[in-house]
Amino acid sequence: MNTVTVEPHQVDAAFRAAMRRFASTVTIITTADHERCHGMTATAVTSLSMDPPSLLICLNQKTLLHDIMFRARRFCVNVLHREQVGLSAAFSGAVPPAERFALGDWSRTEDGIPYLADAQANLFCRKAAAVPYGTHTIVVGQVEHVGLRDAIAPLVYQDAGYCVTSPAG
Ligand SMILES: Cc1cc2nc3c(=O)[nH]c(=O)nc-3n(C[C@H](O)[C@H](O)[C@H](O)COP(=O)(O)O)c2cc1C
Repeated sequence: MNTVTVEPHQVDAAFRAAMRRFASTVTIITTADHERCHGMTATAVTSLSMDPPSLLICLNQKTLLHDIMFRARRFCVNVLHREQVGLSAAFSGAVPPAERFALGDWSRTEDGIPYLADAQANLFCRKAAAVPYGTHTIVVGQVEHVGLRDAIAPLVYQDAGYCVTSPAG
């Protein structure tokens, strides 16, 4: 194994290369304000605590989702199944925002937030905090309700491509 220590001017490229070695579950984050609803593919989703049950998401400030999230009170993290690669592509730019919800089996909460009925899981959150950092905003969600589907078979993103998981060893 080659271990390479990089100089400060090489950190960006090395950081990118290191992040390719992270396997991250693919989600679509959905939210709505009084006028608009929207969904965007995201892997920057992390469990934060059990007490209270909470998670965090990281949103690029240039995205439409960030704009809507600013005024939204709630959002949903829809965990994708390994057969939902097409939805991930659509919600990360292959399909214009106004046409995205025509693909997939979407329902709506009482407050108008779309959720994917056949996702691996739906984590319905109240927006509890938002912390800007650099180009992104870290949004903390307190989990209020959870929807679960039986089989655990998430879609994973690794080395800039889609993967599926299997037991190690
Ligand atoms: C696999 C994958 C994971 C992504 N994860 C994130 C993420 O965690 N946060 C983010 O801001 N953008 C993420 N993106 C980029 C957004 O999905 C993409 O910029 C999207 O087109 C922005 O949509 P919007 O401006 O319509 O909201 C990801 C894209 C892909 C393909």
